Amino acid sequence: MPSAEVLERGRVVMSYSDCFICHKESDKKLGPAFSDIAARYPMNSSYIYILSQRIILGTKGMWGNVVMPPHPNISDKDAEAMVIYILSLREAD
Ligand code: HEC
Repeated sequence: MPSAEVLERGRVVMSYSDCFICHKESDKKLGPAFSDIAARYPMNSSYIYILSQRIILGTKGMWGNVVMPPHPNISDKDAEAMVIYILSLREAD
């Protein structure tokens, strides 16, 4: 499990960014629900890296035809904290 400190950092940096304009925690909005993203990708260092780079560089084609714009002002560290927070929303299976 990630530390409470990293989870809190992820939650806070997301609330100061534009994420919740397009995403909700458990319902689809313009982008996929964070809980659906958490269900698709396991929490490990490869996915934390890949998804954090997609937040920074933008991404498309993984969930449909809507594009996620790039976030060039988000640092690697903050993007990784965001991904750790999102992936922590995975429900126990
Ligand atoms: C303008 C709308 C918009 C904003 C703002 C936005 N997203 Fe997204 N996001 C999307 C869409 C649309 C997708 C699905 C793209 C696709 O199909 O590949 C997505 C996908 C994702 C994914 C999954 C990527 C994958 O490869 O499966 C993550 C993680 C994510 N967003 C996190 C964030 C975070 C964190 C923020 C805030 C910094 C954010 N998004 C802001 C629209 C947005």
